[in-house]
Amino acid sequence: MTDIPNTPPGTPAPVTVVDHPLVQHKLTLMREHDTSTASFRQLLREISLLLAYEVTRTLPMTTKTIQTPLVEMEAPTIEGKKLALISILRAGNGLMDGILDLIPAARVGFVGLYRDPESLQPVQYYFKVPQHLEDRTCIVVDPMLATGNSSAAAVDLLKKSGARDIRFLCLLAAPEGIARMQEAHPDVAIVTAAIDSHLNDHGYIVPGLGDAGDRMFGTK
Ligand code: URA
Repeated sequence: MTDIPNTPPGTPAPVTVVDHPLVQHKLTLMREHDTSTASFRQLLREISLLLAYEVTRTLPMTTKTIQTPLVEMEAPTIEGKKLALISILRAGNGLMDGILDLIPAARVGFVGLYRDPESLQPVQYYFKVPQHLEDRTCIVVDPMLATGNSSAAAVDLLKKSGARDIRFLCLLAAPEGIARMQEAHPDVAIVTAAIDSHLNDHGYIVPGLGDAGDRMFGTK
């Protein structure tokens, strides 16, 4: 485990619930059964910008010398290589599109994992990520942190590829998923718009919003 700066050794990375009124309002609209696919997608794009703002709040900063029209100054800038956004397919792509509006220079990777409906365990079918993950902040995106099995497996794969600074961004989290992630990857900070009550017998988040992939892509 990588200890978090300025915390006692062994302290898990924080779980942040973004309680901004715009996030909460948009999330309520997304949860509603009658919200159309088009509206769901648009809301997801909007909310992802606001969540991206929060997950990038603690990016390491440095300064560089620039010339304004008036004087030279030491101006703040984000340190290090470009961020890596890692989408857990397929629902992660819906979150990622909005984040790319905010961070257009980010590098993008994909982890393809599906959930075996019987065991609820993740099965990998695709993995393609940017080079030099060890030098980048990686933001893993998946709208639903449900059992946490896929998320933990995706982070395992990223760590095997060298990633060290990893954050996890989702829209909804279940307590079970947070517990699973904190057990497997206590160094990974989690940012979410809400923590719901529990998982049902099919691994769906309750009250939730249903199947995020189906709702954003209009499949069933
Ligand atoms: N994946 C979803 O899309 N929805 C859930 O509630 C849980 C996992």
